[in-house]
Amino acid sequence: MPSHTDSLERLGLRSPVIQAPMAGGGDTAALVAAVNEAGGLGFVGAAYLTGEQIAERALAIRQRTALPFGINLFAPTPPPGPAPMMAEAMARLRPFHAELGLPDAEEPAYGGDMFDRQFTALLDSGAAFYSVTFRLPPADSVAAAKARGMRVLGTATTVAEAVALERAGVDAVIAQGSEAGGHRGSFIGDPAANLVGTMALVPQVADAVGVPVIASGGIMDGRGIAAALALGACAVQMGTVFLTTEEAGIPEAHKAAILSAREDQTRITRAFSGRPARGVVNRFMETVEDPRAPKAVLPFPLQNALTRPLRTAAGKAGRAEFLSLWAGQGLTLARRRPAGDLVADLLRGTEEVRRRLAG
Ligand SMILES: Cc1cc2nc3c(=O)[nH]c(=O)nc-3n(C[C@H](O)[C@H](O)[C@H](O)COP(=O)(O)O)c2cc1C
Repeated sequence: MPSHTDSLERLGLRSPVIQAPMAGGGDTAALVAAVNEAGGLGFVGAAYLTGEQIAERALAIRQRTALPFGINLFAPTPPPGPAPMMAEAMARLRPFHAELGLPDAEEPAYGGDMFDRQFTALLDSGAAFYSVTFRLPPADSVAAAKARGMRVLGTATTVAEAVALERAGVDAVIAQGSEAGGHRGSFIGDPAANLVGTMALVPQVADAVGVPVIASGGIMDGRGIAAALALGACAVQMGTVFLTTEEAGIPEAHKAAILSAREDQTRITRAFSGRPARGVVNRFMETVEDPRAPKAVLPFPLQNALTRPLRTAAGKAGRAEFLSLWAGQGLTLARRRPAGDLVADLLRGTEEVRRRLAG
């Protein structure tokens, strides 16, 4: 197995610290630039952005830093099938809309897939890294990104997914353990069964693929980074720890929820988007996924569109009980601080642990 420094070099990474793409507003241009300038790699989660918005975000980043950055997309999503639970899903939201003074939820329409337009903007964005989650990247996108000199990364939650990604031509596999905050990247088999933890997943993926492995999920400090390197990863992709930085663009209520929750207070839920994702348990999650009255969740991306007005209003009103409070199981290790200080500490902490282990 090549050393982790060889793999870093192969990928064009200056350090093992990658700030996870976080679609929905967490990964502002200021965050990406601060991470870059402190020695990490900043990423933009562009899944909910239009082509024009991707171009604007990339420009804002390039104005702040000349260092390489990445852009992440959700792989193309097949149109959702019929949704017989539509009336029930809309009814489940009614009391929450009333509480926030919103009109009743409107039936969400599938607006078509945005991937092609997003990818065109990504190609022209100046990004050095292109990553995808939710499925394999389309073959022509891999070829086009590589032709521009970009590195291509894909997310796997099992060994089978990692092998499929390697066959699809990615330069590295992101092994996402079940501790991870936000959406699960699962795309083969039952997502409810693909809940392998980072500690177990990373070495099994590292043994199964020839490309470098990036560990993701529950990694919050130098101890976690050093552990991931010991397991065979060359780098880590960290989300939750960056969400409470000053530069992160999530609502203050989301930051406060992360800073006050315990490690056993997150859960994987489909309530917000229709796809499994981990976040801090709140009233919305518990009500929508009430086990006594199931079948009120639409398939992705319809549920995401259905809940968006409520989430937007809740963000403005500071109502954490209606927000998708994405966070991973390591959340008690998150602190409120500038992202540059965090990255410097992560790099220093990793070296300290490695020195300590070397005796
Ligand atoms: C708020 C939030 C949004 C996320 N959005 C994305 C995304 O758009 N694309 C993606 O590939 N991963 C996304 N993730 C998952 C991260 O890439 C990563 O796997 C995860 O944050 C790692 O676990 P940690 O949060 O415990 O560090 C998101 C995670 C969070 C917390």
